[in-house]
Amino acid sequence: MTQRIALVTGAMGGLGTAICQELARIGHKVVAAYHPEFDKKDEWLQEQEAAGFKDFIPVAGDVADLASVQAMVAEAEQKAGPIDILVNNAGITRDKMFAKMEREQWDAVINTNLTSLFNVTKQVSAKMAERGWGRIINISSINGVKGQAGQANYSAAKAGVIGFTKALAQELAAKGVTVNAIAPGYVATKMVMAIREDVLKGIVDSVPMKRLAKPEEIGYAVAFLANELSGFTTGATLNINGGLYYQ
Ligand code: CAA
Ligand code: NAP
Repeated sequence: MTQRIALVTGAMGGLGTAICQELARIGHKVVAAYHPEFDKKDEWLQEQEAAGFKDFIPVAGDVADLASVQAMVAEAEQKAGPIDILVNNAGITRDKMFAKMEREQWDAVINTNLTSLFNVTKQVSAKMAERGWGRIINISSINGVKGQAGQANYSAAKAGVIGFTKALAQELAAKGVTVNAIAPGYVATKMVMAIREDVLKGIVDSVPMKRLAKPEEIGYAVAFLANELSGFTTGATLNINGGLYYQ
């Protein structure tokens, strides 16, 4: 297997950790990008080391801020080398029924979950095309595919992620660079644990498998899309949701 260099945003969150671990397990060098205000970076690195992952390369950057991302990717390239695999994973929720949603909650979610894809991908996609190989994997959501009451901001951003994926896939298809999205259902991370208990119970009851996804079940799908043999897969959205929704 060729060792590749992967950059994962939101790396120290629930899904990000599983994605980093899965890519490292199959032999890639992983740059773990985290928010500059995240104050548990050293603890996270120690936990990873204890779990057998001692080579993650941490870099800080706010994915919603272009200048911050430019500096972050430059640091990643300097520490690890040119980025071959980009996983756009960082994201937030600011759930509110639309009638009560403030412009601030709209902007925060659009900037962090969608404009971030412009900011980060812009730093690496042309260079991947020049080298003739690349994998861009964008984490969308079931709620970008089906829509979710209380998430007009998030559903719009995550649907935008899928549109971005399909457009960029066409632009890069002849250059050896694939662009795909994953639309996870509800996964057991702090994002989902923040949902009100009664609402979350209703959600789990509605999942045919009657459970949340484990983060590693999404990490495994990232590794699949990053594989050499996924070279003919582009513009796709992989739905991983325990049977909750099909397109
Ligand atoms: N469809 C239509 N109407 C709904 C609804 C639904 N699914 N859920 C609630 N409503 C209605 C209620 O009946 C209520 O109507 P009335 O005012 O007429 O009585 C109104 O909306 C307000 O409902 P709540 O009492 O629930 O309002 P709230 O302000 O307490 O909470 C909320 C609003 C925070 C959005 C809450 O409903 C909620 O958390 N919903 C879940 C949203 C969700 O699924 N978020 C996913 C987060 S995790 C994630 O995003 C990861 C991922 O990608 C999967
Ligand atoms: P999480 O545990 O909250 O992780 C999100 C990560 O993104 C955190 O590390 C967070 O850092 C980081 N982040 C947020 N804003 C950032 C910014 N501006 N710049 C840099 N990093 C930022 O949530 P998760 O469940 O792992 O979510 C990961 C991705 O999966 C998100 O895009 C989410 O929308 C998507 N998703 C999740 C689910 C689910 O059910 N959990 C389902 C479908 C899709 P801080 O902690 O420091 O803020």
